[in-house]
Amino acid sequence: PPPGWTTRADVVIIGSGIAGLTAALRLRKRVDKVLLVTKDVLSAGSTQWAQGGIAAALGPGDTPEQHEVDTLVAGAGACDRDAVRVLVNEGPEAVRELIRRGAVFDLDEGGDLSLTREGGHHRDRIAHAGGDATGAEIQRALMEAVAARSNIEVIQHALAVDLLLGHDEAVGGNRVVGVTLHVMGEGQRDGVGAVLCRAVVLASGGLGQVFSQTTNPVVSTGDGMAVALRAGATLRDLEFVQFHPTVMWLGPDSRGQQPLISEAVRGEGAFLVDDDGNRFMQGVHPLADLAPRDVVAKAIMKRMLETGKPHMWLDARHLGPDSAAFWERRFPTILATARSHGVDPVTELIPVAPACHYASGGVRTDLDGRTDLPGLYATGEVACSGVHGANRLASNSLLEGLVFSRRIAKVLPGELRPWLDPVPDTRTAGLVAGGVRRELQETMTAKAGVLRSAPGLSEAGAILDKLVGVAADQIDQDSWETTNLVTISSALADAALLREETRGSHWREDFPERDDEHWAGHFDVRMSDGVT
Ligand code: SIN
Repeated sequence: PPPGWTTRADVVIIGSGIAGLTAALRLRKRVDKVLLVTKDVLSAGSTQWAQGGIAAALGPGDTPEQHEVDTLVAGAGACDRDAVRVLVNEGPEAVRELIRRGAVFDLDEGGDLSLTREGGHHRDRIAHAGGDATGAEIQRALMEAVAARSNIEVIQHALAVDLLLGHDEAVGGNRVVGVTLHVMGEGQRDGVGAVLCRAVVLASGGLGQVFSQTTNPVVSTGDGMAVALRAGATLRDLEFVQFHPTVMWLGPDSRGQQPLISEAVRGEGAFLVDDDGNRFMQGVHPLADLAPRDVVAKAIMKRMLETGKPHMWLDARHLGPDSAAFWERRFPTILATARSHGVDPVTELIPVAPACHYASGGVRTDLDGRTDLPGLYATGEVACSGVHGANRLASNSLLEGLVFSRRIAKVLPGELRPWLDPVPDTRTAGLVAGGVRRELQETMTAKAGVLRSAPGLSEAGAILDKLVGVAADQIDQDSWETTNLVTISSALADAALLREETRGSHWREDFPERDDEHWAGHFDVRMSDGVT
């Protein structure tokens, strides 16, 4: 539908987790008007749910170089080394800035940052807050900082529908000059409207809702990736979707967001066992229960297949000299959540199984967050900056949003182009009915999830081709989101089919080895020519 209202801002930031809020706070002094839009309320995204923490070489004896090595090893040969260097070198100062902005991290007895360990790290370098409520504390501090700044305008309940493009000879083609929003229940600017702008920063998070079980909140429907793809930007590494090894198993029928049991619980000494009490991670990897995430997820899946059980167990009954006191101080969120589901981790084993956790790929960017569509920048989970490769290292995700939003804020003001009118949007692709979402999620989980093979991925592609034709009979958030989910799922399944090897979080039953000899490079997705 044509926009019912129009407004203007120099820069529109889409998304309100660590990446979007950091970009807003940093850009507000450098451009006249920043508008931050978010699909739900400010706190609804994934940042709020982050438990373990944020990784940076902040501890004695640790160095960015060691953080770099761990990141590259976890990324299974698919990281961009320069991007990783940026991440690890700028990480410590970015975390210190977060602390100056008011985020309160846990301290040790000496008053220094308390640092813990997670899978794939050879050092204690994970800063945490509120025990296991790191994301919630960061979200709180950044939201308060944004609320205190009068020159950041916020529109909540605003779904980004599509980017508006203008033709600019100076950039040799299209550039982003606006964004169409569907705003729900926000007074004057209700319904579909347009924001004209000079640049857009995508900070809209991931795609966990592509799968039936995920640690991601309901808002993670791949919107930013789909919007970028439709506007002509390139997506990269979509097949590298990380499954977190220890997500609380709530029964065979549980769907949607599932409770995360942080790797930090294993960092503090918990370990995995099967039904017979065997510690099956021993001997699988030198780091055993703290091996990189993909190694642990695969070992759990393997043991589940061997034993025919729907989950394994996490034994965390022995943490600290007084387990109950330790749990209450160190993991209060997980303790309360597990108890609310009838499991007391102080005295009982926690049932766990892998579930979708993080999109390592996304909208391709350079080292300053630029996409290949002029005027469009991306940061955080929606982006593929190259730091994660085939498998993100634990607690590098908050850090990525922080570091790359700071970099975008440095370059973007100098790259702003004059105002330009959008060309009329003649795209005719239809909206997909929200009713197909469940079938989509079940299909992706069964055929393009943690275990993949050519026949399954081809079947997934055929089912998605069918679902894309189920037209919505109304224009609402459910159908916009489902359209985005179908778009991203198709691209993901195509890339997963093309990658004929097992690498990082991409696990092919029919190609079980990593193939460095025939490394196929990265798979890029563009609207015009599909996956290449
Ligand atoms: C966790 O706490 O295990 C999650 C950390 C992460 O995803 O980086």
